[in-house]
Amino acid sequence: MSAATVVYPDHLRAQVDVYLDALRFPSRAPRTDGLEEAMRYSLLAGGKRIRPVLALATADAVGLDASAVLPLAAALELIHTYSLIHDDLPAMDDDALRRGRPTCHVKFGEDVAILAGDALYAEAFRHLLTAQPGEADRVLAAARELAAATGVDGMVGGQYLDVAGVSETPADLQRLHELKTGRLIGAAVICVLLLAGAPEDADTTMGWRRFAGELGVLFQIVDDILDVTGTDEGLGKPQGSDQRHGKRTYVTEFGLEGARKLASQCHATARATLSGCAPQGAAELEQITDFIFTRTS
Ligand code: IPE
Ligand code: IPE
Ligand code: MG
Ligand code: MG
Ligand code: MG
Repeated sequence: MSAATVVYPDHLRAQVDVYLDALRFPSRAPRTDGLEEAMRYSLLAGGKRIRPVLALATADAVGLDASAVLPLAAALELIHTYSLIHDDLPAMDDDALRRGRPTCHVKFGEDVAILAGDALYAEAFRHLLTAQPGEADRVLAAARELAAATGVDGMVGGQYLDVAGVSETPADLQRLHELKTGRLIGAAVICVLLLAGAPEDADTTMGWRRFAGELGVLFQIVDDILDVTGTDEGLGKPQGSDQRHGKRTYVTEFGLEGARKLASQCHATARATLSGCAPQGAAELEQITDFIFTRTS
């Protein structure tokens, strides 16, 4: 399978981009314009929109109207953008390029970049809790899942494990990837199921949870590989960032070939798990799974 033969559901991405572009973050004090500018600078800088597109594709797969989950999809991308702004800060990965542009702190200063991240996080939940249609208990369940996926047992906990450098074994590294990247990608699938009425603890969502978890780890293994094999221009972010910081990654742990092999296994498992969840097929989710495996940026 090669990048040239894999298609991305661009029609879903276009829907997401139009929706995000229309979002505004005003306040009653007109002088917060500069904060909104920094937020929108990073949010609208491009990006693959994998998490919101995954949410829309999951909606299609379970018989929901994709456009009905756009508020949730936007919340996922706001949170992801916040995590990138903070990840790039001098105290974290100290990177100057993101989505092909100077990073938020390079453009607006560290103080404003920290606040832009904070604000995107809060505005994500405000948007989900005010704009997402559906029964209140379902929207609340999705919000609960999203909060858990981004907290200590989720993305921020994973970022902590990464910066603290406390992972020792391959199992530790997998756990780190599951939290740092897997939980938010997983939330893109699980929150949609919750909006569709799936019970929070039901066995019926176990397969979907496995699919989402596998997809998340696959995503980060490929990210680790691209950090070594990509270019600044192709990635839109600095190549070699992990090595500069002595990060433990799938490449340092297993070598480039070993990491590629693991990515391939992860991809096969994700596809097989997806077939079990959607026996009639789920074309867009299959496309996204293949794209995450073969992507070059
Ligand atoms: C990069 O995410 C950060 C990780 C979780 C590895 P993406 O590769 O999805 O970044 P964008 O959104 O396309 O810029
Ligand atoms: C960060 O992982 C994942 C986040 C939660 C933002 P990386 O540090 O590897 O992400 P990139 O490579 O800078 O996009
Ligand atoms: Mg990082
Ligand atoms: Mg980084
Ligand atoms: Mg990386």
